Parts: sequence; structure tokens; C-alpha cells
Amino acid sequence: MTKLLKILALLLVITTVVFAAGCAEQGEAGAEEAAAEEMPTYYVGTEAQFPPFEIVNAEGNVIGFDVDLMNAIAEDQGFKVIYQDQDFSGLIPALQTGNIDIIASGMTITEEREGQVDFSEPYINAGLALAVAVGNEDIQSVDDLQGKTVAVQTGSTGFFKAEELKEAGIVANIKDFPHVNEAISEIEIGGADAMINDLPVTNAFIAAKPGVIKIVGEPLNSEAYGFAVREGNTELLEKINTGLQNVRDSGKYDELLVDLPNYMEDE
Ligand code: ARG
Repeated sequence: MTKLLKILALLLVITTVVFAAGCAEQGEAGAEEAAAEEMPTYYVGTEAQFPPFEIVNAEGNVIGFDVDLMNAIAEDQGFKVIYQDQDFSGLIPALQTGNIDIIASGMTITEEREGQVDFSEPYINAGLALAVAVGNEDIQSVDDLQGKTVAVQTGSTGFFKAEELKEAGIVANIKDFPHVNEAISEIEIGGADAMINDLPVTNAFIAAKPGVIKIVGEPLNSEAYGFAVREGNTELLEKINTGLQNVRDSGKYDELLVDLPNYMEDE
């Protein structure tokens, strides 16, 4: 072979290799795109006026610990999520009728709800707390709720606790509202004496707007939050539980936990 031919042959080899590599890369990108298209999308229901677990930011997006955690699980398990903000008391019906696929809404795992939905492994603990107007010195604990009016969020465990106290002949009236901030306003205007609500959430509202209500006494109980799926939807439940475990194992969960108080200040 002449020198020129050798050079030409070499050039041909190089171009072929470069071309082939280019094709492979393109193929990979194409495959990735196709995989993204095939990713299932799940609708996630939440009542997003519940900081630090879910709140709507200035841009109108739902943010918070539940959202971050669910997003991390979705990323780990290869599914997409779309958040739907709606009243808390409508979440379980929406799940049952198929309007949503997942509930991520600071929902406490309770025996009664276990009969209506399937819960994931617990992902965080919270408890109920009693709150009163900042100037109220009469109510220090639930024992002081004799004849009093209690404000709660409709369908919440705080609501159920208030019902229990009413049945026990302690609480006189229950006023329930779709959103926690409305229960707080009711205390502010003197329409209710106290509120029973999840402690970290009440704390977040106090941090956002100090000087209206305060927490009194010890937490009333301890509750575990879980994500919920339709009864029998084991495929999705397994994804959520596996994803949750992976997010815990990778250290991502602890990172999110560190961010938790920041949502309160953002509010
Ligand atoms: N943990 C309470 C419950 O399960 C209250 C949850 C309210 N959540 C919300 N996003 N508003 O009943």
C-alpha cells in the first residue's frame, strides 16, 4: 500500500469509529427519552395549607416535607407525580373513586382509615397539641376544656380527639373548618376557646404569625404519618415502601428532615 492509501484507510477507520460512537450516544439519549415517556404518572392528593408538610409557595407550587419525600420516592422508583390541592376531608373519597392515586397530606395512620385505604410504612411521627389565644391563662390542658368550644380541621385526628372529649362530657362545642388557619382565626375573633391540631403544624403557624395563639401543656398523643393508596393497590404500595426505604438508606431522608424547620420560616 502506498503511503497515501494507508493514510486514507486510517482516516476511514477513524471516521467510522467516531460515527458509530455518535450513533450509540444518540441511541442512548433516545432510550432515555422513551423511558421517561413510559414512566407512569400518579396523582397525589394533598391539602396544602399544612406547613411544614405541604404549603403553596408564591409561584403557586405545592412544596413541603411530604412533597420532597414523595418526589424523592418517585425519582427512586421511576414514576412521575402531579399534586392536587383539595380539602382534607375529601382525600379518602377521592382516592377511593380513583380521582387521585396517592394521599401525601400529613395523614395519620389510624385504625379506622386502615379500613378504607392502604397505608405505607410510617414516614414521620407527630402528635396533637392544644393551642389557645396568647392571652388565655385559663386553659392549661384538656382538663380545662369543660364547657369550652374547640376549633379543629374537618376530618382530622384533632377533630376526632375533640369528638372524644365532647362524648366524655368535657368539650361543649366543636367548630370545624376546612383549613387550619381558619380554626386559628376563629380563636382570634373569640369564636372558639382552643384548637386541637398537629403540633409541628401549629408551631409552623405560630412561627409565621406570632402573637395570636400559643401551645399549652404536653402533646396529647403520638401519631405516625403514612402515604395512602387505594385498597389492594399493592403494586404502587410496594413502590412507595421500597422507595421510602431507599431514600432512608441513602441519607436523603435525613437531608430532608434537616430542611423541615425551614418551611416553617418560609411560610
Ligand atoms: N394528621 C392529621 C390527620 O391525619 C391531620 C392531617 C391534616 N393534613 C393536611 N394536609 N391538612 O388527621
